[in-house]
Amino acid sequence: MENLIEDIGVLAGLEGEACETVKVSANQNTGKTRKLYIESYGCQMNFSDSEIVASILQKEGFDTTSNVDEADLVFLNTCSIREKAEQTVRNRLTQINGIKKKKPEMMVGVLGCMAERLKTKLLEEEKIVDLVAGPDAYRDLPKLIAQVDEGSKAVNTFLSREETYADVTPVRLNSNGVTAFISIMRGCDNMCSFCVVPFTRGRERSRDPQSIVAEAKDLFAKGYREVTLLGQNVDSYKWSEEENNKARLEKINQVEVVNFANLLERVALVHPDLRVRFSTSHPKDITDEVLYTMAKYENICKYIHLPVQSGNSRVLELMNRGYSREWYLQRVEKIREILGNECGISSDMIAGFCTETEEEHKETVSLMEAVQYDFSYMFFYSERPGTLAAKKFADDIPLDIKKKRLEEIIQKQSELSLKRNQLDVGKVHKVLIEGTSRRSDQQLQGRNSANKVVIFPKGNKTKGEYVNVLVESCTGATLMGRVV
Ligand code: SAH
Ligand code: SF4
Ligand code: F3S
Repeated sequence: MENLIEDIGVLAGLEGEACETVKVSANQNTGKTRKLYIESYGCQMNFSDSEIVASILQKEGFDTTSNVDEADLVFLNTCSIREKAEQTVRNRLTQINGIKKKKPEMMVGVLGCMAERLKTKLLEEEKIVDLVAGPDAYRDLPKLIAQVDEGSKAVNTFLSREETYADVTPVRLNSNGVTAFISIMRGCDNMCSFCVVPFTRGRERSRDPQSIVAEAKDLFAKGYREVTLLGQNVDSYKWSEEENNKARLEKINQVEVVNFANLLERVALVHPDLRVRFSTSHPKDITDEVLYTMAKYENICKYIHLPVQSGNSRVLELMNRGYSREWYLQRVEKIREILGNECGISSDMIAGFCTETEEEHKETVSLMEAVQYDFSYMFFYSERPGTLAAKKFADDIPLDIKKKRLEEIIQKQSELSLKRNQLDVGKVHKVLIEGTSRRSDQQLQGRNSANKVVIFPKGNKTKGEYVNVLVESCTGATLMGRVV
């Protein structure tokens, strides 16, 4: 446990792909001449971006490989969210240096948030790196690779106000063929004081709804049965003809604004057998309209990731989150009123933010109890250079206190996860099968609407099918049952 806490923060109550920190590209063999190995760290946005990168480079003569030793080009798509995330990447670069010594022609690139944060400094600090590209610079990769081919180092960390890669069809890496991510927006305009994302991902911009719906339709036609709409704050999704296409508008003289609830509905209407999920919701912005849209469509999953960060209003204010404890609890009440007690709710928590007192920490624990979270991602505060908190507040909570508070939060969540799962025992759940269980190939694994992992004997069922499962037992992480 200790190790985990230091490493990546801790996730309790969930077993699934979301807790993995590294994803490696799959083998792809279409006879291309050069091989790309890409390793992704951090959040789902980064995993989704790696699929864009693979798509862009496929056109340039690269196949992906899952074996770093046979790669001509090694990319690390990196995360800066906590200090530990960056340290992990630096350690990995040292390992890759060992391979490069035997194979000097191998090109090494750093992409993503760490590339954006450190820019050319990364070339100075990590001699092995040939190429640095920020999250909005991936269309430029062919040119950057050509520069390195010619013997120089290459950098592009330009952040864009428009780039959404809307026209790039992602190459699905590590895909189970059933579930996929669709990026609906990029960047973040929120400036939570602890957070590096606004600096590494730039201004918020929304992708046009037509291309999102087209991607969902294409996935459904290819056999996918679940899409997750991704954004740092999906509730601020906004797309208007006016902002995006002024010239055309003058001609048709009509303004159309699409908000997140509208988008959700459009994607839900693609097909009743296509499940729709989304992440992340922001407590200050989630609307009743979104909740009613969720209630209206059976295929919109009844699950909301609603990170609270802290249960104390003074700390929330310092964090610049834009809501109080009372506001948050009211939003949860509304979710329960419109979507019922079965709707899954999860959260992110930060222990030991600047000046947090013991009493204020206890309020986080009591809020968890009040909400009854199904699971949470839990971290202790890690100061990030350049953020508002780093500039304004001292990182004054000693590490051992941060860890002790985090332990208490984890303890509470383990208790709640088990309690919430016990409520599901004895009930029948509609499960979308995602594949065989990790524990046994005689068992299948999928998730219910509330995003809980359900395991059951295989029978004659296969992935991509919906089944009704009677849940007979559970742990804090998993529901177990049989098809009925
Ligand atoms: N857009 C999402 C969060 C993305 S970052 C939201 O607003 O909820 C994912 C999580 O990492 C955050 O919710 C927060 O809990 C955690 N996190 C972000 N910055 C952190 C920091 N400096 N130290 C510790 N945890 C942090
Ligand atoms: Fe970071 Fe806040 Fe934006 Fe989330 S909403 S990405 S925590 S700044
Ligand atoms: Fe990390 Fe960047 Fe995502 S900092 S969490 S990879 S947006």
